[in-house]
Amino acid sequence: MSHQTVIVLDFGGQYNQLIARRVRECGVYCEVKPYTTSLDAIRAIDPIGIIFTGGPNSVYEETSPHVDPAIFELGIPILGICYGCQLIAHNLGGRVVPASDASAREYGKTETFFDTSCSLFKGLPAEGISWMSHGDYMEKVPDGFALTAHSDACPNVAIADEARKFYGVQFHPEVNHTENGVKMIRNFLYEACGAVGDWTMGDYCKTAIAQTREKVGDGKVLLALSGGVDSSVAAALLAEAVGRQLTCVFVDHGLMRKDEGDEVEAAFKKWDINFVRVDAEQRFLDKLAGVTEPERKRKIIGEEFIRVFEDEAKKIGKVDFLAQGTIYPDVIESGLGNAATIKSHHNVGGLPDFVDFKEIIEPLRMLFKDEVRQLGRELGLPEYLVMRQPFPGPGLAIRCIGEVTKEKLDTLREADFIFRDEIAKAHLEGTMNQYFAVLTNMRSVGVMGDGRTYDYTLALRSVTTTDFMTADWTRIPYEVLDKVSVRIVNEVKGINRIVYDITSKPPATIEWE
Ligand code: XMP
Repeated sequence: MSHQTVIVLDFGGQYNQLIARRVRECGVYCEVKPYTTSLDAIRAIDPIGIIFTGGPNSVYEETSPHVDPAIFELGIPILGICYGCQLIAHNLGGRVVPASDASAREYGKTETFFDTSCSLFKGLPAEGISWMSHGDYMEKVPDGFALTAHSDACPNVAIADEARKFYGVQFHPEVNHTENGVKMIRNFLYEACGAVGDWTMGDYCKTAIAQTREKVGDGKVLLALSGGVDSSVAAALLAEAVGRQLTCVFVDHGLMRKDEGDEVEAAFKKWDINFVRVDAEQRFLDKLAGVTEPERKRKIIGEEFIRVFEDEAKKIGKVDFLAQGTIYPDVIESGLGNAATIKSHHNVGGLPDFVDFKEIIEPLRMLFKDEVRQLGRELGLPEYLVMRQPFPGPGLAIRCIGEVTKEKLDTLREADFIFRDEIAKAHLEGTMNQYFAVLTNMRSVGVMGDGRTYDYTLALRSVTTTDFMTADWTRIPYEVLDKVSVRIVNEVKGINRIVYDITSKPPATIEWE
């Protein structure tokens, strides 16, 4: 694929993926590489620019991550962010020291003053808020560099050498708290690196189809379709590329939301592929009977999923490729391992043991989630699939507290549907990232008409988050909660009380189990 590339060199900061996403949002392809990447490997990529990320270390310590100083001789524009900025200073003759004076140590939103003649700040306001998080500061700026931004506490907030196109900022332009941060990144790309903006999903889609076709040749491909965004888009791409050479095995474990199984099946009708929907509801219910412990439930479902998939795969016989919907954040998290916090993955399956295949194919491995959604649209998948909120592999089983039975699942499905329906009617989907109902295992007394009821309590959960590692509970308007509550209690048999979960993560998790 011939498009311009920017390398984000990872020094272990928290926002590395975010930087890469911002670059791609600006229409420029970009990859995250570990700071240990050799100069030869960098030259081979032939990047138009390099971004050094932040990181938790101090540049003046020998054990901290460093770069080969020859990187500054490549003639490639460099933007250093936070630690990356200090790294530029340290390498090119400046001096970075611990901020002994607490006031020079900055954290949080900081009023900052910019020199707008610097390419990085061109066309932007001379004053604005930036997000700082640094304990070291540049006491001496390297020769050839100008100071291009300052704050009240710190004279050296940004540096620039316009001749060599080296720029450094102490703050984090990639986070939303920095006003015009993305525009600064855009300026680096378009003013300094000569970006042309050749990363578009339409183009990517065409090339990815052609490449997949070439790679697969006349081979057979097998894919386990879960109905989630990633596996659906991977399936759509393969369907478009290789048609009947693709077999999708959609394991319907009976733990999906209302109508979801049918929706997934309908979405793939337009392609001529081998689509196998396995009705495995009873198999899963049998395995789950009497099990109440959350981790046991998860294990049972994960294992059974693999077994069902294997049983189907055996019927197909040998395939050449096993396709997976791995996306770029998974690749970054498992491959680089420098970032301080690593998301714990709880995916349903591992790899099946008894599927006979030659090679794994991962058509989405270079895409971020929002790009995957965009690609899904390009491929003509319906909006309800492309915009589907995250749904855990073990499905409703972990939202049905205590023992899982068909009856409880059906009750939960109806209630969850009403909740989602009312959120859609109130046009609130954009204000929350995940929202669902949980059937608690608690029953309480109520009164309906003239009679006593003794039914389940349903919990509503909604979170607002960017990374799902931390999350806040969504402030849903009371009127909407009221509508949901009235409808569920009236329309769903077996529920007589509704509560709203107002715990953030941490200390709670998003799912209840
Ligand atoms: P927690 O409950 O850990 O969830 O705060 C964080 C995010 O992960 C989703 N989740 C899962 N996703 N397989 C998945 O693919 C799983 O087993 C699983 N468990 C939780 C959860 O829905 C939330 O978005």
